Amino acid sequence: MCGIVGILGKHEVAPTLVEALKRLEYRGYDSAGIATVNDGALERRRAIGKLVNLSDLLVHQPLAGKSGIGHTRWATHGAPTLTNTHPHQTRRVAVVHNGIIENYRELRADLAQAGITHQTETDTETVALLAQHYIDQGATPADAVRRTVARLEGAYALAFLFEDEPDLMIAARKGSPLAIGHGDGEVYIGSDAIALAPMTNRVTYLEEGDCAVLTRSTITITDPAGTPVVRTPRTIRVDAALIDKAGHKHFMSKEIAQQPTVIGETIAAYVAADASDINLPGEGIDFTKINRLTMASCGTAYYACLTAKYWFEQLAGLPVEVDFASEFRYRTPPISDGTAALFVSQSGETADTLAALRYCAGKAQSILSVTNVPESSIARESDLTLPIYAGAEIGVASTKAFTCQLTVLLLLALKAAHARGRISSQTLQEKLTAVRGLPAIFNQAMSIEDHVRSISQRLAESRDALFLGRGLMFPIALEGALKLKEISYIHAEAYASGELKHGPIALIDEKMPVVVMAPRDALFDKTVSNMQEVMARGGKVILITDQSGATSASEGVWQTIILPDIDFDLTPILYALPVQFLAYHTAVTKGTDVDQPRNLAKSVTVE
Ligand code: F6R
Repeated sequence: MCGIVGILGKHEVAPTLVEALKRLEYRGYDSAGIATVNDGALERRRAIGKLVNLSDLLVHQPLAGKSGIGHTRWATHGAPTLTNTHPHQTRRVAVVHNGIIENYRELRADLAQAGITHQTETDTETVALLAQHYIDQGATPADAVRRTVARLEGAYALAFLFEDEPDLMIAARKGSPLAIGHGDGEVYIGSDAIALAPMTNRVTYLEEGDCAVLTRSTITITDPAGTPVVRTPRTIRVDAALIDKAGHKHFMSKEIAQQPTVIGETIAAYVAADASDINLPGEGIDFTKINRLTMASCGTAYYACLTAKYWFEQLAGLPVEVDFASEFRYRTPPISDGTAALFVSQSGETADTLAALRYCAGKAQSILSVTNVPESSIARESDLTLPIYAGAEIGVASTKAFTCQLTVLLLLALKAAHARGRISSQTLQEKLTAVRGLPAIFNQAMSIEDHVRSISQRLAESRDALFLGRGLMFPIALEGALKLKEISYIHAEAYASGELKHGPIALIDEKMPVVVMAPRDALFDKTVSNMQEVMARGGKVILITDQSGATSASEGVWQTIILPDIDFDLTPILYALPVQFLAYHTAVTKGTDVDQPRNLAKSVTVE
């Protein structure tokens, strides 16, 4: 996590650095800082808390200079104090870092033996001190950086600036993404193309182990062996509306409201005009040659995978294994012949998901990914990437990316079902016609918001909450609990409805709100029985169902939220909406920081 940026510019860089950091704040917001070279000297400004604190500081203590680096921090090593805030600086070197240096203790000990002491608790200061150490031994800045990174274990995207070198910036990456932006007599680096968007849309992504020596007129990239390499620049399309809330109070609210549109765009990108087939990019995937699917992801994306397991198994008869990427990567699971591996990631940069993908590369028949960022590491390292067309998602809590991921995964499962002879062409067409109707039904469902807001005002008084669901509703219950805890800080858990009586039912009392997700599908009666068990013990039930479910089962429940009827295979996508609204309005009632909840970051590029 953390966002880094660097500029060798023609004008004063401090305002542009801050603007770029604003676009990277989704990667962390514990503290922020910038450093520049001015009149040959390195100088920095740093502030703890959000970027706005750094902006305020710069009003009173401006920072001059046409070369600079900046950082927005998600703390890993050391508390979010001013001392630990980046850039870290020695006499001649300033550095910003995204990632984790795993061997920093050994390196610290080595430096201590040479009489070099640290002032901070960070792993990044070690990098700055090592580079300084090599410069003191006579190395050029470029050699000092190469010798430094050769000693680093772990993940890093680094940008270095040097005293007396106003036309030099050095960048290096391993495990964390880094892009070089090409300007007119200027050059930039950034954790992603979004940060660089106001300056340029011509971007070169560094590859694993690359080191780039940049001046305003030259870019020299070398691989870990020091051999010069050529990396091809690309032209990037970046969402212009990125940092506009479009009249909403929060990005999360805007992103919830965008769902009918972006789900519609996602469907339009995949479903043929006559709803007869699903068009996949490139050569697609031959599901007749696959007998198993393995999926690994994190957080909300993991719940999308869990939902897809039900779809692939029930619709396509394809066995699916799903795991948290953080577990999968160290479990060394055997990958049998005929297995395809599928990874879901909004950012396409999640460190654990990327590591799981790399574990499968070469072992699995094909590497597939579903991502919102087509230029991301996960997309670039996949055999086939399925984009989701959600547009930039800024709110830390994922909403529209989740429903777009579900949409693509359902389409993929239907494609597999048809290819494997489990559904006829006519059934496929019927299902795709239903999918095409989803945006309109989703739009209709937006009218529940006022009702959910009033429920949320009561929910905000609770300390805990439970979410229950069966079958396709179980992953959505998990997602509902995650949404509620991450933005409202209310402790929430989700259980498969049938599991309740095996332990969690002990938690039920009159104070416990229990959200029961139950469209009137084949499992409805079973879930309603579990709901009765909750009500018999005084639990306050919020039932989320359709009209038929409400008519048959809402007696005695505390609140009922009624959604429009929809094909049951599509219910996970539609039923994500009420749990998003519940979490959002509960958080708004509690006054928490909805878009940037405490301790979180949008893109988790450390393990
Ligand atoms: C929760 C949330 C996270 C992410 C997770 C994976 O609202 O957004 O749980 O889903 O960090 O991120 P991506 O999808 O970028 O791999």
